[in-house]
Amino acid sequence: MSSDSHVSAERALGTAGIARRPVGSTESQAANIAWWDADADDYHAEHGEFIGPAEFRWCPEGPTEAEVGFLGEIAGRSVLEVGCGSAPCARWLTAQGAYAVGLDLSAGMLAHARRMNAATGIAVPLVQANGERLPFADGSFDLACSAFGAVPFVPDVGAVFAEVARVVRPGGTWTFAVTHPMRWIFPDDPGPDGLTARTSYFDRTPYVEVDAEGRATYVEHHRTLGDYISALDDAGFHLFDLVEPEWPEGHTREWGQWSPLRGRLFPGTAIFRCVR
Ligand SMILES: C[S@@+](CC[C@H](N)C(=O)[O-])C[C@H]1O[C@@H](n2cnc3c(N)ncnc32)[C@H](O)[C@@H]1O
Repeated sequence: MSSDSHVSAERALGTAGIARRPVGSTESQAANIAWWDADADDYHAEHGEFIGPAEFRWCPEGPTEAEVGFLGEIAGRSVLEVGCGSAPCARWLTAQGAYAVGLDLSAGMLAHARRMNAATGIAVPLVQANGERLPFADGSFDLACSAFGAVPFVPDVGAVFAEVARVVRPGGTWTFAVTHPMRWIFPDDPGPDGLTARTSYFDRTPYVEVDAEGRATYVEHHRTLGDYISALDDAGFHLFDLVEPEWPEGHTREWGQWSPLRGRLFPGTAIFRCVR
């Protein structure tokens, strides 16, 4: 995770090193609020142009929902975007005629969402909450989606899936993109050093950045593909497609550890398409 582009957040939070240790829900939540609040400005300075003001881009490989249509018919549908950040996806959905709501844990990220709502004139409703405890009634939405929001940052992914299953009506869909689990074995490096396996794929011990007192300042959780499939099944979802977007010819834009070098060799993103 650490790179020059995160220097301000690391300085603000006093990040002193990396630990690999278990982290529960309360500590993960505190670290992620602190991290995304502190990094929100840099995140949007670095990636804002690529993600766009009202565009639905699934992942650093670049595919947009307009191109791939993973969500199917969306006009007139109610949609929950989990971990929406500045909510470009929810604004794009709204522009297509959906009733979209953006949910995120971080006030700093949601401040960017409010700013972009005003700039675009597309006023997406925004909710500050943890994806592990969704503040909506059962069956409130026709579908739910997420582009790298919430799922990688919670210790109990089953809690998020159970909550999404509760708020999506029977027959509704849940489509989410995460870092491809196989990337866990490599250092977070877009260059040649990111091509050598260093960590076991089977080691679920979270990646934790810590301050001088050992408090978590950033947390990321890993599960294998099998873990995801079991957790989705437990929550009552049927997985009907698992998309591994290939690195497009001529696409040169790096995003953190995502690069043409690595993208040519192995997947960077996994997109799970499920129905309740
Ligand atoms: C990598 S950003 C993705 C944001 C947006 N989807 C995008 O594509 O720009 C991850 C987002 O997940 C949010 N997040 C992290 N943990 C969360 C949780 N437990 N519940 C809800 N949102 C969470 C962060 O605040 C952040 O906005």
